[in-house]
Amino acid sequence: MTNIDYKRRQFLQCAALGTFVAALPGFPLAENKDFNKAPNPLFKADVEIALTAQIADVPILQGAHTHVFKYHGKLLKGPQTALKILPGYLGPILNFQQGQRVRIYFYNELPEPCITHWHGMHVPQVMDGHPMYAIARGGQYVYEFEVKNPAGTNWYHSHTHELTATQVYQGLAGLITISDEAEEKLDLPGGEYDIPIVIQDRSFTNGNQLRYVLGMHQRMRGFLGDTILVNGQENSVIPVKTRAYRLRILNGSNSRIYKLGWEDGTSMTAIGTDGGLLEKPETLAYIMLAPAERVELWVDFSGRKLGSDLILQSLAYQGGGHMDSMGGSRMGRGMDMMGGASGQDGTMTIAKFRIVEQINDSPKLPVELVPVHRLTHQDITNPDRTIPIAIGMRHMAFQLNGRAFEMQDYMESEKIPLNSVQKIKIFHDSAMMGRGMRGRGGMGMMMSVPHPIHLHGQQFQILSRTQVNPSSDYDTVKDGFINSGWKDTVLVMPGEEVQIIKPFRDYTGLFLYHCHNLEHEDMGMMRNFYVS
Ligand code: C2O
Ligand code: CU
Ligand code: CU
Repeated sequence: MTNIDYKRRQFLQCAALGTFVAALPGFPLAENKDFNKAPNPLFKADVEIALTAQIADVPILQGAHTHVFKYHGKLLKGPQTALKILPGYLGPILNFQQGQRVRIYFYNELPEPCITHWHGMHVPQVMDGHPMYAIARGGQYVYEFEVKNPAGTNWYHSHTHELTATQVYQGLAGLITISDEAEEKLDLPGGEYDIPIVIQDRSFTNGNQLRYVLGMHQRMRGFLGDTILVNGQENSVIPVKTRAYRLRILNGSNSRIYKLGWEDGTSMTAIGTDGGLLEKPETLAYIMLAPAERVELWVDFSGRKLGSDLILQSLAYQGGGHMDSMGGSRMGRGMDMMGGASGQDGTMTIAKFRIVEQINDSPKLPVELVPVHRLTHQDITNPDRTIPIAIGMRHMAFQLNGRAFEMQDYMESEKIPLNSVQKIKIFHDSAMMGRGMRGRGGMGMMMSVPHPIHLHGQQFQILSRTQVNPSSDYDTVKDGFINSGWKDTVLVMPGEEVQIIKPFRDYTGLFLYHCHNLEHEDMGMMRNFYVS
């Protein structure tokens, strides 16, 4: 028996058990190219989907169609509701139920390598879409996993080495919803009253083709498009009735951060975050939503006038993005290397909800949603150890923990014992920021921009947020964070230090953590945790 066969056999056995328990010797890494090419006959799937990344021409703007990358989906087995095709470039919405066993045949028909990641889902390493598993054109990768996550809104997107930003930009993303029993009991607005809202910014050429620029500005701040798309369409007008709705909002943008608010000042009622439903609804004046973050809103249009619009906006805020001196004190705006940079001047329209029908019955907002087990310091496996995620910069590129991404590389501090609960501190390492630039200009300056930090694997909770450099900029965003729910992505503003607590259960192997500003990610702001 060859080594590959041996590993394959071991994998089949573990997969049959549904979990990866023992640390496999020589865990299947990139050298094993045949991995996951064929379905595992021992895995009995409830849902089977074929998902193909391909080139397509879709209508987005008036006039010429736009050349995009698109996930084309086909349901092979399971309930018809498991897959919902959308017009435009977004992939189909995948609707799963907790406990379902899912098999996805992923085919790559693009003229470049590709691999797909199920963002927010708790799956084994080989099912997680690590870039080391990218397949070439014509290739196939078979994903098989059990849906362990609770009810909520996740998503999938390409995760190809150094091509994630351009592939997602060109369309390779889609939504995943999960339902479970606890959610069903709540009887939240469903069907036509449950609306997905994927927000993305794009730029177009005169010929309606996607425009993507990667210059100095975009390297530092990420790419910002000038046109807001909702579910792949511009100028979105969503017809609604006078009753309550559930909105599942995903920020699927490469780098744009939205400060979501209702135009008429109505407060926002959040019922869910990245990892699922909240314990109870939370009311905020506005909600900051960074790339990859999700928020589920409850919005009640009862009592509104027929024909009127309620507009979902992104409000003005200051996001930092200035050249700071080493100590962190602000230099004048004239010194701002990014010319205004992150943040948003003025208000942008995201979508208009138009009242098209008056009806009289509307469900009431539940006072309590689902039990959320709060993790505390008592749950931490090694209370003396805090895992660092230091945001730094070298050679004009952002890095994590002083290193750029290397496919299978991890450091001692990135080793995590299986089935442990860890405290992780995400912070800006100003010393590290300074080092790279001092060497060049002797200025000791640092670049301070917001970073949405995402961790693969199980969802985490936020323990604390501390602003080391309180400023009027921070005041424009600070009331827009939801810190009570399960999260997989957390926005870390300039000067901010965020402590999180995260379980690492069930699966061994390499799990990524990275900045979800996709330009930052592709430039190496990504690392592996090794769970064993
Ligand atoms: Cu949304 Cu590593 O990904
Ligand atoms: Cu992810
Ligand atoms: Cu970043």
